Amino acid sequence: MTRETWATRVGFILAAVGSAVGLGNIWRFPWVTADNGGSAFLLVYLAVVLLVGVPGLLGEFVIGRRGKQSPVGALRNLSGSRSWGAWGVFYVGTAVALLSFYSVVGGWILRYFAESAVGIVGGSPAYFAAPGQYFGGAAAGVDALGFHLLFLGLTALVVVGGVRRGIELGTKVMMPAVLALLVGLAVWAGTRPGAADAYAFYLRFDPTTIRANLFDVLAPAAGQALFTLSLGAGTMITYASYIDEDRSLPFDGTVIAVLNTLVGVLAGLVVFPLLFSLGVDPAQTEPGPGALFVGLAGAFSQLPAGALVATVFFGVVVLAALSSSISMLEIPVSFLVDEYGVGRRRAVGLVAGTVVVTGSVCALDPTIAGVGVFGFVAGPLVDTLLTAGLAAALLFVGWVMGRDAVAEFREGAGRAAALATPWLLTVGVVLPIFLVFTLLTTFGVDARLGVWPTVLVSVLVGAVAFLGLRTERSVV
Ligand code: TRP
Repeated sequence: MTRETWATRVGFILAAVGSAVGLGNIWRFPWVTADNGGSAFLLVYLAVVLLVGVPGLLGEFVIGRRGKQSPVGALRNLSGSRSWGAWGVFYVGTAVALLSFYSVVGGWILRYFAESAVGIVGGSPAYFAAPGQYFGGAAAGVDALGFHLLFLGLTALVVVGGVRRGIELGTKVMMPAVLALLVGLAVWAGTRPGAADAYAFYLRFDPTTIRANLFDVLAPAAGQALFTLSLGAGTMITYASYIDEDRSLPFDGTVIAVLNTLVGVLAGLVVFPLLFSLGVDPAQTEPGPGALFVGLAGAFSQLPAGALVATVFFGVVVLAALSSSISMLEIPVSFLVDEYGVGRRRAVGLVAGTVVVTGSVCALDPTIAGVGVFGFVAGPLVDTLLTAGLAAALLFVGWVMGRDAVAEFREGAGRAAALATPWLLTVGVVLPIFLVFTLLTTFGVDARLGVWPTVLVSVLVGAVAFLGLRTERSVV
């Protein structure tokens, strides 16, 4: 059977934007921004997206389009080494871990959407009365479990449709809707009292804060940039493997990153004015995944036509989340299809069946050895897997593909072809060191050793990884 491909270039771009735009932009981005000081964080984050995100995205694209297989087959065939194929399986595992917690949060959103819609007709949504208590109920136990399964079912339904009739068609409808509705909500939120304070908090340029906090916000900014661009899990490798003509990867990658950033910034322009209009100071609220639900739900209850606004808002979030979760499910599915010739329908069944179990564990959120499973998976586990995953992919591009990567980058790139060599240097040397550094700071190593020794350790780890690569066949 011939492998499926995207029907159109726009189809590929929208599918990739759909993957990138998700809970990361609307749910994670505002609270990570708020936790890290608002505007000071925003600027560092934008710089990281441009300098790390875009080149990293191109790295995954180059592997995918050259390899034309799931991450496992692509890494194995391009390197001629089975060990790299085994590393590809790491991405399949990461995707399952991601989907396990993502589908749970998707379930919460689905529930808020349904509750809001019911509230339009039936008076007011139940969460208006006691937002905190409602979230506690929705996010735990059998309720969380049921909506997780529903969300996962919707995800599976799209992926069963295949690359063109499922993913491409779905995201072609979902992404324009998300963009249009968000713009509408942002304009409307700007008319709320308190909007000016919100903009000041969110957008004011404040170089002293940035300088004082640079190293503290670098790791969260990097983590957020990877997460939001869907990097480090093989998603973009997989999506690029379905490209069948040589269009400009640098152009497409830039468009995807810009659109994704736009949605993140827009989400902030919706969320912050609403919170400020209620007198909620995001910097003072308790951090964490529930904060946004509780704060926003409270804000909606104070608004005229609050149930309607809430329905539109959560509707946007459902669509954005769904277009991301399908890209997570597609990684293990493409692995089973490409490697074992399993039919798509069966492959979806097998993977979704697995996530029914792993996701249910996240939904029920037991505490193991003093650590809540959900928080652990959604936080440190995913951060670590993605950072390590991207660092490895970029080392692969820089040191295993080397000249092939440059050739693939140039294919169809037009004038941007001139950027190929500086790009290769960036992804092969600078970014892996940077990624190791952020990983070390996440674990607090910089606090113990100091910043510069940590930089040194990062360089050393990079060098060891490089030497390890040299022992591989057909390398460097
Ligand atoms: N980028 C998506 C978001 O912002 C989440 C996502 C989809 C993702 N696929 C991914 C994150 C792969 C990491 C890796 O919500």
